[in-house]
Amino acid sequence: MKHFRVVFEPDGKEISIHEGATLVEAAGQVGIVLNTSCGGRGTCGKCAVRLGPSGREVFACQHTVQSDLTVTVPGQSRFYAHKILEHGIAPASGLSRTIVEKYRALAGPTAICGVAVDIGTTTVVAKLIDLADGRSVATRAMLNPQTQFGDDVVSRISYAESETGLARLRAAIVDGINELIQGLCETVRIEADAIYEVSIVGNTTMNHIFLGFPVSQLGQAPYRAHSVEAHDISPASVGLRMNPAGNVHAAENIAGFLGSDTTAVALAVDMDSAVQMTLVVDIGTNGELVLGTGERLYAASCAAGPALEGARIRYGGRAAEGAIEAVIIDNDDIAIDVIGGAAPRSICGSGLIDAVAVLLELGVVDASGRFADVMRVRSRCSASVASRLIEFEGQPAFRLSDEGQAGEATVILTQKDIREFQLAKGAIQAGTKLLLARMGIDVGGLEQVLLAGAFGNYVRPASAVRVGLLPDVPLERIHFVGNAAATGAQMLLLSDECRATAGALTRKIQYVEIAHEKAFGEVFAESMLLSP
Ligand code: FES
Repeated sequence: MKHFRVVFEPDGKEISIHEGATLVEAAGQVGIVLNTSCGGRGTCGKCAVRLGPSGREVFACQHTVQSDLTVTVPGQSRFYAHKILEHGIAPASGLSRTIVEKYRALAGPTAICGVAVDIGTTTVVAKLIDLADGRSVATRAMLNPQTQFGDDVVSRISYAESETGLARLRAAIVDGINELIQGLCETVRIEADAIYEVSIVGNTTMNHIFLGFPVSQLGQAPYRAHSVEAHDISPASVGLRMNPAGNVHAAENIAGFLGSDTTAVALAVDMDSAVQMTLVVDIGTNGELVLGTGERLYAASCAAGPALEGARIRYGGRAAEGAIEAVIIDNDDIAIDVIGGAAPRSICGSGLIDAVAVLLELGVVDASGRFADVMRVRSRCSASVASRLIEFEGQPAFRLSDEGQAGEATVILTQKDIREFQLAKGAIQAGTKLLLARMGIDVGGLEQVLLAGAFGNYVRPASAVRVGLLPDVPLERIHFVGNAAATGAQMLLLSDECRATAGALTRKIQYVEIAHEKAFGEVFAESMLLSP
């Protein structure tokens, strides 16, 4: 596929994306989440952007990339901008009491900045925010340095039980955040002293380790949090290198398996005042679900594992250059799209969802997830598709990329990969069904489905529904909201009002322990099938 360069202003972000991608997709790839109220049908006009020097207005969901482009994205077309700016605007506007007020007297005319940190089990993301206007100035991310002590939450909890385990895990994350802060300060040439406020969100284990709280109880039933409260602590007590007169705010957790990252997601997408029956699906190293309206909210954590982030998948990887991010049926064959237009090296979450949907559609795998027999594939598929069916370590597999040049990887999808995918999506689908049952509604009662996660804005709703990852609702009800946890952390950084809303949300949300629901076994087994 041909690729073109799209620059987004005023952010100054740019991307190389394949011909025919919509501007909504392109924006999502650089972390700009557009308002798509009508689900990209071209009827709401909420996604309007301006093109090039002429400033012609187009609907981003309808405009496809056919050449190099510069696109200006106004604030009202951004999913979160309104809320963030409202809470970030200087107090003189009277819109909200902002955190910046506290520091004006201390800082005089110099910059007053904050850092919003999302501690993921795998990745830590830090955004530098100008507290005076709420704008994000720079972003840095790193592999969570605790991964050297274990890949997942369970292995970190058991590591914390050794004599110096908790202290080491804590030191690793504090050092990591200090490194991110230093990098952010160097990028915009400010001193660490200009950082007055840091907000921290993460799952309960990450939150507890950062705060130095015990975590062993999180590893055994009934998986109780040591604390679900918000904590405001001095930089010195936690060891963060920032202005010593500043404050570190760790937001409220919901339960042992639902941390402040889910609180942040619920805050970012306005669950507190949702009028429509909304399901939020946040996919990270696990899957978190929040269902309801501002009146009543249920939430659950699904043990989905990291397959949708690319882990445990033979050629799985993060959504970075060289990752297959989309797979479609193209004439008699399949076509792939690779991030950055580079040679394919891996497959990321959105590519995996697409690939499984395509294999299902072509009849190469059946609803049980098993590869069809070669003869059968030959009889019903084109020769090009059939030639992609190969044997790998004695098991059938499907070749997604063309044969690589010498030294290049050929990206394949194995039978085991499909099983891992089924486990992940099965956990999320089962969780969704059980939450709907708790709410007393069926899928038809869902008015809005919001998919959040670091895999960005590229997941095709039709594929996600086809494989059963998202409930079978009309596609226009599905919206992608990007990394909502990071956005929520940014809102928490800026406003006391948002902190109060977050606290109220955690008290309102009723936690459902999915695995303890009576129907869990049966629903999970049924959800392993690749079907809506
Ligand atoms: Fe583009 Fe509605 S018009 S999303």
